[in-house]
Amino acid sequence: MLQQIQTIKERFISELESSSTLQVLEHIRVSYLGRNGKMTELMTFLKNVSPEEKRTFGPKVNELRDFIQQSLSTKTEFLKEQEIRKTVLKQQNFDVTAYKPEMPKGTLHIYTQLIEQLENIFISMGYEVASGPEVETNYYNFSALNIPDNHPARELHDTFWLTIPNMLLRTHTSTVQIRTMEQQKPPIAVVAPGRCYRNEATDATHDFMFTQVECMLIDKNITISHLLATAKTFLQEVFGKKDLAIRVRPGYFPFVEPGFEIDASCPFCTQGCSACKKTRWIELLGAGLIHPNVLKCGGIDPQQYSGFAFGMGLERLAMIKYGIQDIRLFHSSKIEFLNQF
Ligand code: FA5
Repeated sequence: MLQQIQTIKERFISELESSSTLQVLEHIRVSYLGRNGKMTELMTFLKNVSPEEKRTFGPKVNELRDFIQQSLSTKTEFLKEQEIRKTVLKQQNFDVTAYKPEMPKGTLHIYTQLIEQLENIFISMGYEVASGPEVETNYYNFSALNIPDNHPARELHDTFWLTIPNMLLRTHTSTVQIRTMEQQKPPIAVVAPGRCYRNEATDATHDFMFTQVECMLIDKNITISHLLATAKTFLQEVFGKKDLAIRVRPGYFPFVEPGFEIDASCPFCTQGCSACKKTRWIELLGAGLIHPNVLKCGGIDPQQYSGFAFGMGLERLAMIKYGIQDIRLFHSSKIEFLNQF
């Protein structure tokens, strides 16, 4: 039996020495100390020997069991510590800069970029950004803007009427003029970008949905000079040309009096080019001094206050600035188009 005890001990030591994981260690524990393990077998065998042999071998068997338990626990501690050390080392050697995934970069949509740029120009001149709903009433889109029912000017705007009486998709952002006047008292300085809709056949320069930007200033003694200075500064900033000139032609919009069309000198040439269709001028803004009837509708006394307003098509402006040939590209979601901005 002594020989048997010695053999078990030697085999245990050899197995313990070659074990390098906690999993293997657990396996060894079960095969020696488990219910069917070698030590249990030895104990069962000891039960059947003579009392004399029990006295001789009993302490040896206990000694071996203690030795196995102690050795297993020491090695378990050792392996646990080693695992912790490995994890710490791994973390220390982890280089956060080493992994650089090549992700394609997205950009803001051209609409968003342009609107932000235009808003910033006006904000730098002391304006606030205003907005109004795209689904509008007949009143805000037409009547309050001095375009009563049956007025011929209504024909200029091919309107998407809703099935709900007197409701429509706004045809221009001039609706924000009245809505702002109702909410604020002069001095008022606002810029209002937003979607507009017209029931028109589409072509390279016309869409049924497009964006306008409206600018409005109301205070005491506002004159055409304020309008022209503001429009010029704005256009110079948009095209990044300090020497950009403007010219004014008469224009008809029922909500302004007098009304103008404001053109900018071509930012790309001095002799005539494809952008200006060889005319050296580019039509950009509808403008004028706010009609007294419109001020009244907005609850502002035209005897005390005056104001100007101008509006423009954002897509048409961008088409000139970037040489875009077809307005329908803006909401085509064509990635080749969008990637350019
Ligand atoms: C207006 O809509 C006026 N509300 C502008 C205004 C504001 C005048 C304040 C005076 C004072 P008009 O209908 O011309 O004006 O449209 C203005 C701009 O919107 C046009 O110059 C054009 O750039 C753009 N636009 C109009 N219809 C379309 C369309 N179908 N597709 C793309 N852009 C359009």
